[in-house]
Amino acid sequence: MHVTCPSRTALRVAQRRAAHQVLDLPRVFDDPLALRILGLEGDPAARPLLEAADASPYARGLRAFLAARSRFAEEALRQAVDLGVDQYVVLGAGLDTFGCRNPYPELRVFEVDRPEMQAWKRARLAGAGIPAPASLRFAPVDLATQDLLAELPRAGFDPAAPALFAWLGVAQYLPAAEVLATLRAVTRLPEDSAVVFDYALAPHLIEPRLRGVYDALAARVAAAGEPFQSGFDPAALRADLAGMGFTAVSDLGPDELTARYFADRDDGLGIRGFTRLVHAIV
Ligand SMILES: C[S@@+](CC[C@H](N)C(=O)[O-])C[C@H]1O[C@@H](n2cnc3c(N)ncnc32)[C@H](O)[C@@H]1O
Repeated sequence: MHVTCPSRTALRVAQRRAAHQVLDLPRVFDDPLALRILGLEGDPAARPLLEAADASPYARGLRAFLAARSRFAEEALRQAVDLGVDQYVVLGAGLDTFGCRNPYPELRVFEVDRPEMQAWKRARLAGAGIPAPASLRFAPVDLATQDLLAELPRAGFDPAAPALFAWLGVAQYLPAAEVLATLRAVTRLPEDSAVVFDYALAPHLIEPRLRGVYDALAARVAAAGEPFQSGFDPAALRADLAGMGFTAVSDLGPDELTARYFADRDDGLGIRGFTRLVHAIV
Protein backbone atom coordinates (compact mmCIF):
# COMPACT_ATOMS: atom_id res chain seq x y z
CA MET A 1 0.00 0.00 0.00
CA HIS A 2 3.01 2.28 -0.35
CA VAL A 3 1.70 4.04 -3.42
CA THR A 4 1.64 7.70 -4.25
CA CYS A 5 -1.71 8.99 -5.42
CA PRO A 6 -2.47 12.60 -6.38
CA SER A 7 -5.40 12.57 -3.95
CA ARG A 8 -4.36 11.18 -0.58
CA THR A 9 -8.00 11.26 0.55
CA ALA A 10 -9.15 9.22 -2.47
CA LEU A 11 -6.56 6.58 -1.61
CA ARG A 12 -7.61 6.46 2.07
CA VAL A 13 -11.27 6.08 1.13
CA ALA A 14 -10.40 3.23 -1.24
CA GLN A 15 -8.32 1.54 1.48
CA ARG A 16 -11.27 1.78 3.88
CA ARG A 17 -13.63 0.28 1.29
CA ALA A 18 -11.12 -2.55 0.88
CA ALA A 19 -10.91 -2.95 4.66
CA HIS A 20 -14.70 -3.20 4.82
CA GLN A 21 -14.59 -6.15 2.39
CA VAL A 22 -12.31 -8.20 4.62
CA LEU A 23 -13.02 -6.96 8.16
CA ASP A 24 -16.80 -6.39 8.35
CA LEU A 25 -18.96 -9.44 7.82
CA PRO A 26 -21.74 -9.32 6.79
CA ARG A 27 -20.77 -6.50 4.42
CA VAL A 28 -22.99 -3.47 4.01
CA PHE A 29 -21.40 -2.76 0.63
CA ASP A 30 -19.99 -5.42 -1.68
CA ASP A 31 -17.19 -4.27 -3.94
CA PRO A 32 -15.43 -7.19 -5.62
CA LEU A 33 -12.85 -4.79 -7.12
CA ALA A 34 -11.99 -2.91 -3.93
CA LEU A 35 -8.90 -4.99 -3.15
CA ARG A 36 -7.85 -5.46 -6.75
CA ILE A 37 -7.71 -1.76 -7.57
CA LEU A 38 -5.22 -1.36 -4.72
CA GLY A 39 -3.14 -4.34 -5.83
CA LEU A 40 -4.11 -6.23 -2.67
CA GLU A 41 -6.20 -9.07 -4.06
CA GLY A 42 -4.74 -12.42 -3.02
CA ASP A 43 -2.05 -10.72 -0.94
CA PRO A 44 -1.74 -12.48 2.44
CA ALA A 45 -0.45 -9.20 3.91
CA ALA A 46 -3.65 -7.36 2.93
CA ARG A 47 -5.68 -8.14 6.03
CA PRO A 48 -3.03 -7.17 8.61
CA LEU A 49 -2.17 -4.06 6.61
CA LEU A 50 -5.79 -2.94 6.38
CA GLU A 51 -6.41 -3.79 10.04
CA ALA A 52 -3.40 -1.78 11.16
CA ALA A 53 -4.44 1.22 9.06
CA ASP A 54 -7.94 1.24 10.53
CA ALA A 55 -7.37 0.29 14.15
CA SER A 56 -8.99 3.08 16.18
CA PRO A 57 -12.70 2.99 17.14
CA TYR A 58 -13.21 6.23 15.24
CA ALA A 59 -11.65 4.71 12.09
CA ARG A 60 -14.15 1.85 12.31
CA GLY A 61 -17.10 4.27 12.43
CA LEU A 62 -15.71 6.18 9.48
CA ARG A 63 -15.29 2.95 7.53
CA ALA A 64 -18.93 2.14 8.31
CA PHE A 65 -19.98 5.52 6.94
CA LEU A 66 -17.98 5.04 3.74
CA ALA A 67 -19.55 1.62 3.17
CA ALA A 68 -23.04 3.02 3.83
CA ARG A 69 -22.61 5.98 1.51
CA SER A 70 -21.50 3.81 -1.41
CA ARG A 71 -24.46 1.51 -0.82
CA PHE A 72 -26.80 4.50 -0.54
CA ALA A 73 -25.56 5.82 -3.91
CA GLU A 74 -25.91 2.47 -5.63
CA GLU A 75 -29.44 2.05 -4.20
CA ALA A 76 -30.34 5.48 -5.59
CA LEU A 77 -28.88 4.34 -8.91
CA ARG A 78 -31.10 1.23 -8.93
CA GLN A 79 -34.10 3.50 -8.33
CA ALA A 80 -33.00 5.86 -11.13
CA VAL A 81 -32.43 3.02 -13.58
CA ASP A 82 -35.93 1.72 -12.78
CA LEU A 83 -37.23 5.16 -13.84
CA GLY A 84 -35.36 4.86 -17.13
CA VAL A 85 -32.36 7.06 -16.27
CA ASP A 86 -29.37 5.88 -18.30
CA GLN A 87 -26.63 8.36 -17.32
CA TYR A 88 -24.69 8.09 -14.04
CA VAL A 89 -22.10 10.75 -13.26
CA VAL A 90 -19.57 9.96 -10.55
CA LEU A 91 -18.21 13.34 -9.45
CA GLY A 92 -14.81 13.31 -7.78
CA ALA A 93 -14.69 9.60 -8.57
CA GLY A 94 -11.35 8.86 -6.94
CA LEU A 95 -10.86 5.09 -6.90
CA ASP A 96 -14.57 4.28 -6.99
CA THR A 97 -14.97 1.06 -8.99
CA PHE A 98 -18.64 1.20 -10.02
CA GLY A 99 -17.82 2.11 -13.62
CA CYS A 100 -15.95 -1.19 -13.96
CA ARG A 101 -18.73 -3.20 -12.25
CA ASN A 102 -21.73 -1.61 -14.00
CA PRO A 103 -24.39 -4.33 -14.32
CA TYR A 104 -26.91 -2.20 -16.26
CA PRO A 105 -26.63 -2.74 -20.02
CA GLU A 106 -28.13 0.66 -20.96
CA LEU A 107 -26.29 2.74 -18.35
CA ARG A 108 -23.44 5.03 -19.35
CA VAL A 109 -21.12 6.01 -16.50
CA PHE A 110 -19.19 9.29 -16.54
CA GLU A 111 -16.32 9.68 -14.12
CA VAL A 112 -15.33 13.24 -13.31
CA ASP A 113 -12.14 14.05 -11.45
CA ARG A 114 -9.20 16.38 -11.58
CA PRO A 115 -7.09 15.48 -14.63
CA GLU A 116 -4.04 14.30 -12.66
CA MET A 117 -6.13 12.07 -10.39
CA GLN A 118 -8.03 10.62 -13.31
CA ALA A 119 -4.85 9.84 -15.24
CA TRP A 120 -3.44 8.13 -12.14
CA LYS A 121 -6.60 6.06 -11.70
CA ARG A 122 -6.60 4.95 -15.34
CA ALA A 123 -3.00 3.79 -15.00
CA ARG A 124 -3.94 2.00 -11.75
CA LEU A 125 -6.84 0.18 -13.46
CA ALA A 126 -4.53 -0.93 -16.25
CA GLY A 127 -1.86 -2.02 -13.75
CA ALA A 128 -4.40 -4.02 -11.77
CA GLY A 129 -5.78 -5.70 -14.92
CA ILE A 130 -9.24 -4.16 -14.50
CA PRO A 131 -10.78 -3.44 -17.91
CA ALA A 132 -12.67 -0.16 -18.35
CA PRO A 133 -15.84 -1.12 -20.27
CA ALA A 134 -17.09 0.94 -23.24
CA SER A 135 -19.95 2.22 -21.04
CA LEU A 136 -17.39 4.05 -18.85
CA ARG A 137 -16.39 7.53 -20.02
CA PHE A 138 -13.77 9.70 -18.40
CA ALA A 139 -14.25 13.46 -18.08
CA PRO A 140 -11.21 15.25 -16.66
CA VAL A 141 -12.74 18.32 -15.01
CA ASP A 142 -11.65 20.54 -12.13
CA LEU A 143 -14.93 21.46 -10.47
CA ALA A 144 -13.29 24.45 -8.81
CA THR A 145 -12.43 26.14 -12.10
CA GLN A 146 -14.50 24.53 -14.87
CA ASP A 147 -18.20 24.43 -15.70
CA LEU A 148 -19.39 20.85 -15.21
CA LEU A 149 -22.30 20.97 -17.67
CA ALA A 150 -20.13 22.60 -20.32
CA GLU A 151 -17.43 19.93 -19.96
CA LEU A 152 -19.49 16.74 -19.57
CA PRO A 153 -20.86 16.68 -23.15
CA ARG A 154 -17.26 16.38 -24.41
CA ALA A 155 -17.32 12.90 -22.88
CA GLY A 156 -20.65 12.07 -24.58
CA PHE A 157 -23.01 13.18 -21.81
CA ASP A 158 -26.47 14.23 -23.06
CA PRO A 159 -27.72 17.28 -21.11
CA ALA A 160 -31.20 16.80 -22.61
CA ALA A 161 -31.61 13.45 -20.80
CA PRO A 162 -31.87 12.89 -17.03
CA ALA A 163 -28.89 11.75 -15.01
CA LEU A 164 -28.04 10.65 -11.50
CA PHE A 165 -24.97 12.29 -9.96
CA ALA A 166 -23.05 10.61 -7.15
CA TRP A 167 -20.88 13.07 -5.31
CA LEU A 168 -19.30 11.24 -2.42
CA GLY A 169 -16.55 12.56 -0.20
CA VAL A 170 -16.03 15.74 -2.19
CA ALA A 171 -18.34 18.52 -0.91
CA GLN A 172 -16.36 18.97 2.29
CA TYR A 173 -13.26 19.79 0.30
CA LEU A 174 -14.91 22.58 -1.71
CA PRO A 175 -16.08 26.04 -0.60
CA ALA A 176 -19.83 26.21 0.11
CA ALA A 177 -20.49 28.44 -2.91
CA GLU A 178 -18.96 25.82 -5.23
CA VAL A 179 -20.97 23.04 -3.62
CA LEU A 180 -24.18 24.98 -4.14
CA ALA A 181 -23.22 25.88 -7.73
CA THR A 182 -22.70 22.19 -8.59
CA LEU A 183 -26.02 21.23 -6.99
CA ARG A 184 -27.74 24.02 -8.92
CA ALA A 185 -26.24 22.63 -12.15
CA VAL A 186 -28.05 19.32 -11.52
CA THR A 187 -31.39 21.17 -11.43
CA ARG A 188 -30.75 22.44 -14.98
CA LEU A 189 -31.18 18.84 -16.17
CA PRO A 190 -34.54 17.21 -16.96
CA GLU A 191 -37.01 15.86 -14.40
CA ASP A 192 -35.94 12.60 -12.66
CA SER A 193 -32.35 13.83 -12.53
CA ALA A 194 -30.97 13.52 -9.01
CA VAL A 195 -27.88 13.82 -6.87
CA VAL A 196 -26.56 11.79 -3.98
CA PHE A 197 -23.96 13.52 -1.84
CA ASP A 198 -22.54 13.66 1.63
CA TYR A 199 -21.67 16.75 3.59
CA ALA A 200 -20.25 17.65 6.97
CA LEU A 201 -22.15 19.60 9.57
CA ALA A 202 -21.01 23.16 10.08
CA PRO A 203 -18.41 22.97 12.89
CA HIS A 204 -20.60 24.89 15.38
CA LEU A 205 -23.30 22.18 15.02
CA ILE A 206 -20.96 19.28 15.84
CA GLU A 207 -21.58 17.78 19.27
CA PRO A 208 -18.83 18.74 21.73
CA ARG A 209 -17.86 15.05 22.28
CA LEU A 210 -17.13 14.73 18.53
CA ARG A 211 -15.50 18.10 18.08
CA GLY A 212 -12.02 16.77 18.96
CA VAL A 213 -12.38 14.01 16.37
CA TYR A 214 -13.46 16.54 13.75
CA ASP A 215 -10.55 18.85 14.57
CA ALA A 216 -8.04 15.98 14.35
CA LEU A 217 -9.44 14.82 11.00
CA ALA A 218 -9.53 18.39 9.67
CA ALA A 219 -5.87 18.81 10.63
CA ARG A 220 -4.93 15.51 8.93
CA VAL A 221 -6.62 16.29 5.62
CA ALA A 222 -5.24 19.85 5.65
CA ALA A 223 -1.75 18.43 6.14
CA ALA A 224 -2.41 16.16 3.14
CA GLY A 225 -3.14 19.30 1.09
CA GLU A 226 -6.93 18.78 0.90
CA PRO A 227 -8.42 20.93 3.70
CA PHE A 228 -12.10 20.89 4.63
CA GLN A 229 -13.66 24.01 3.18
CA SER A 230 -17.37 23.70 3.85
CA GLY A 231 -19.90 22.53 6.41
CA PHE A 232 -23.65 23.06 6.39
CA ASP A 233 -26.65 23.51 8.64
CA PRO A 234 -29.13 20.77 7.52
CA ALA A 235 -32.17 23.07 7.78
CA ALA A 236 -30.55 25.81 5.72
CA LEU A 237 -29.27 23.29 3.17
CA ARG A 238 -32.75 21.79 2.81
CA ALA A 239 -34.16 25.29 2.15
CA ASP A 240 -31.41 25.93 -0.42
CA LEU A 241 -32.13 22.63 -2.20
CA ALA A 242 -35.87 23.38 -2.33
CA GLY A 243 -35.13 26.89 -3.61
CA MET A 244 -32.98 25.45 -6.42
CA GLY A 245 -35.82 23.23 -7.61
CA PHE A 246 -35.20 19.84 -5.99
CA THR A 247 -38.67 18.42 -5.30
CA ALA A 248 -37.83 15.46 -3.05
CA VAL A 249 -34.98 15.51 -0.57
CA SER A 250 -33.95 12.91 1.98
CA ASP A 251 -31.13 13.86 4.33
CA LEU A 252 -30.00 11.12 6.71
CA GLY A 253 -27.76 11.46 9.74
CA PRO A 254 -25.63 8.89 11.59
CA ASP A 255 -28.47 7.41 13.68
CA GLU A 256 -30.82 6.98 10.72
CA LEU A 257 -28.06 5.42 8.61
CA THR A 258 -27.06 3.09 11.43
CA ALA A 259 -30.68 1.98 11.84
CA ARG A 260 -31.02 1.43 8.08
CA TYR A 261 -27.78 -0.41 7.37
CA PHE A 262 -26.31 -1.75 10.62
CA ALA A 263 -29.30 -3.07 12.61
CA ASP A 264 -29.10 -6.66 13.87
CA ARG A 265 -25.31 -6.94 13.77
CA ASP A 266 -23.42 -8.43 16.64
CA ASP A 267 -20.12 -6.65 15.96
CA GLY A 268 -21.38 -3.21 17.02
CA LEU A 269 -20.45 -1.66 13.68
CA GLY A 270 -22.32 1.60 13.11
CA ILE A 271 -21.89 5.25 12.27
CA ARG A 272 -20.99 8.09 14.58
CA GLY A 273 -19.90 11.44 13.43
CA PHE A 274 -20.71 14.65 11.71
CA THR A 275 -21.41 13.71 8.10
CA ARG A 276 -24.82 13.23 6.51
CA LEU A 277 -26.10 11.72 3.26
CA VAL A 278 -28.54 13.40 0.91
CA HIS A 279 -30.58 12.09 -2.02
CA ALA A 280 -32.19 15.03 -3.83
CA ILE A 281 -34.42 14.57 -6.89
CA VAL A 282 -35.25 17.27 -9.47
C1 LIG B 1 -12.22 11.80 -0.68
S1 LIG B 1 -11.99 11.51 -2.38
C2 LIG B 1 -13.50 10.64 -2.72
C3 LIG B 1 -13.38 9.75 -3.90
C4 LIG B 1 -14.61 8.94 -4.26
N1 LIG B 1 -15.79 9.74 -4.47
C5 LIG B 1 -14.85 7.86 -3.26
O1 LIG B 1 -15.83 7.97 -2.51
O2 LIG B 1 -14.07 6.92 -3.24
C6 LIG B 1 -12.25 13.09 -3.12
C7 LIG B 1 -12.16 13.09 -4.64
O3 LIG B 1 -12.61 14.36 -5.14
C8 LIG B 1 -11.72 14.79 -6.14
N2 LIG B 1 -11.79 16.26 -6.18
C9 LIG B 1 -11.49 17.12 -5.19
N3 LIG B 1 -11.61 18.38 -5.62
C10 LIG B 1 -12.01 18.31 -6.91
C11 LIG B 1 -12.29 19.27 -7.91
N4 LIG B 1 -12.14 20.56 -7.66
N5 LIG B 1 -12.65 18.84 -9.14
C12 LIG B 1 -12.76 17.52 -9.41
N6 LIG B 1 -12.52 16.55 -8.49
C13 LIG B 1 -12.13 16.95 -7.27
C14 LIG B 1 -10.36 14.28 -5.68
O4 LIG B 1 -9.41 14.23 -6.77
C15 LIG B 1 -10.73 12.90 -5.16
O5 LIG B 1 -10.72 11.93 -6.17
